[in-house]
Amino acid sequence: MLVDSFRVESPNVKYTEETIESKYEYTTTDMVHEVMKNGKYEWVARPKSVTYQFVTKRKLPKLGVMLVGWGGNNGSTLTAGIISNREGISWVTKDGVQHANYFGSLTQASTCRIGTFSREEIHVPFKSLLPMVDPNDIVIGGWDISDMNLADAMERARVLDIDLQKQLRPLMQDMVPLPGIYDPDFIAANQGSRANNIIKGSKKEQMERVIQDIRTFKAETKVDKVVVLWTANTERYSEVITGLNDTKENLFNSLKNGKPEISPSTLFALACIHEGVPFINGSPQNTFVPGVIEYAIEKNCLIGGDDFKSGQTKMKSVLVDFLVGAGIKPTAIVSYNHLGNNDGMNLSAPQTFRSKEISKSNVVDDMVSSNSILYGPGEHPDHVIVIKYVPYVGDSKRAMDEYTSEIFMGGRNTISMHNTCEDSLLAAPLILDLVLLAELCTRIEFKAESEEKLHSFHPVAALLSYLTKAPLVPAGTPVVNALAKQRAMLENIMRACIGLAPENNMMLEYK
Ligand code: NAI
Repeated sequence: MLVDSFRVESPNVKYTEETIESKYEYTTTDMVHEVMKNGKYEWVARPKSVTYQFVTKRKLPKLGVMLVGWGGNNGSTLTAGIISNREGISWVTKDGVQHANYFGSLTQASTCRIGTFSREEIHVPFKSLLPMVDPNDIVIGGWDISDMNLADAMERARVLDIDLQKQLRPLMQDMVPLPGIYDPDFIAANQGSRANNIIKGSKKEQMERVIQDIRTFKAETKVDKVVVLWTANTERYSEVITGLNDTKENLFNSLKNGKPEISPSTLFALACIHEGVPFINGSPQNTFVPGVIEYAIEKNCLIGGDDFKSGQTKMKSVLVDFLVGAGIKPTAIVSYNHLGNNDGMNLSAPQTFRSKEISKSNVVDDMVSSNSILYGPGEHPDHVIVIKYVPYVGDSKRAMDEYTSEIFMGGRNTISMHNTCEDSLLAAPLILDLVLLAELCTRIEFKAESEEKLHSFHPVAALLSYLTKAPLVPAGTPVVNALAKQRAMLENIMRACIGLAPENNMMLEYK
C-alpha cells in the first residue's frame, strides 16, 4: 500500500516550524588484527555505535536550474517534460492517450518501504522522506553554443511524440539559451557548425560573464537558489599539469594568463563555486581538476559528477554486482553502443570518445575488488567499450552487452543483452534527481557526538553517486559503483534525517 506522506513520532525526532531534527545511532564495525599466530593475523570484529545529530531545513526555496547545453537533446527533453507535467498535458500516440509523468526519476517515481500496518507493507514516495522541491516549480534556463530556441531544439532532438511537440511549441519557443563558451579544442570538430552563440573574450572574461549570467537569472526570475548542471557536449580530458591546474592558486594564475588547457566546463564550475552555486557535471570529462576541487572545498560549495548513469552502465552496476555477489566470476565484459544523436556525433572523435571510455571502464572495480575468492591480486575481467555513430537511429540508442563468466567446476556462462531506448528519456529524469537532491543536500547539517558544531556534507557530493557513472568522491573515500548500495546509501541517510533505521530487510516479526 502507498501512503503519500507521514510524520515520525519518536523521542529522537523533533519537528519545528523551520527544521526536522533527529538523533541517530550509527552502528558500524571496526576490524582489527591482533598478534600473528602461525604466520596469520587473528582478526577481530568490534561493533561500535556513534550518535549523530541531523538537522534538515524544511522551508523549500524557489529553485532555478541552469543547464549548460540547454538546447541539446537532454536539455530540451527535460524542459519539455517539466512543462508537460506542470501543465498536465496529454497527447495522442498510436497506442492511445499518453499523460505526462516523471517515470525514471528516483525521487519522483520510486518508493521506499517504511513499515507495516496490520501486516501489510507500507511504502511511501521517495520524495516524501524529506521536504523536497517539486519539479513542477522549477524555473529553468541556461546556456548553449547554439542559439536555437527550445521549441526548435525539441524538434531537432526527435525524441518526443509530434502531438506533444505541437502542444509544447508555444510554451517553449520564447526560451532561448544564453551564449555558451565554445572552445573547439575541447569538443569534436564536427560541432563547429552549431556554434553561433558564443561568449567572446579571454577565459577570465568568459568566466566572469557566466557569473554575471547567474546573477541576472537569479534577479530576473526571483529564485532563492540556483543549481547549475553540465549537460553540454562531452569534452576531451584536460591535462592535469603541475603549476597549471593542480592547485587552486595555480588554476587562478593560469586563468589570469589565459592558459589554453582550461576547459569550458572548468570555467563554468569556477563561476558557480565563486557564486556558491552547486555545480553538477553530467558528462564524463575531468571538469573537476584538482584546483577546482580545492576551490569548492574552500568555499564549501557542492560539486557532483561525473557522467549520468542512465542505461548500459546502470545495468552493468546491477548485473556485475549480482554475479560477483552470487560467487560467479565475470571474466569478459564487452559493451557495444551505437547512437545517432549529436552526442554520438561528438563522441565519434577519438579524444571525446576517450573521456567516455574512461568513465564507463571503472564501473566494476569495487565489485571485483570486493571478492578475492574469485579474483587474484591485480586480476580484472577484460572490459571493452565500443561506441559508434549511426545517424539513422537518432536518439534511440542501442546498447549490446556480453558478459562471460566462469561458473562451477570450470563451466562458462555467457549472458547477452540488447537494449534499445531514447537516450534523453533516460537522462532527463536523472538530471531532475541530481538537481533536486543537490538542493536538498544544501539544507542538511549534521554532526557526530564527538564534534562540536553542525556542518554540511562534504562539498564533493558522494551522495549523488547513484546517478553518475564515475562518482566523484572526497579524496580517500571508497568509490561505490554497485547500484543497490548507492541507492541504499542515499535512502538510509535520508531515513537517518528523520530518525528511521536503515532498511535491513530482516523481517524478524514474520520469522
Ligand atoms: P547534445 O549534443 O544533444 O546536447 C549538448 C548541447 O550542448 C548542444 O546543444 C551543444 O550545442 C551544447 N554545447 C556544447 N558545448 C557547449 C558549451 N561549452 N557551452 C554551452 N553549450 C554547449 O547531447 P545530449 O544527448 O543532450 O547529451 C548531453 C551530454 O550528456 C553529453 O555529454 C552526453 O555524453 C552526456 N550524457 C548523456 C546521457 C544520456 O543518456 N543521454 C548519459 C550520460 C551522459
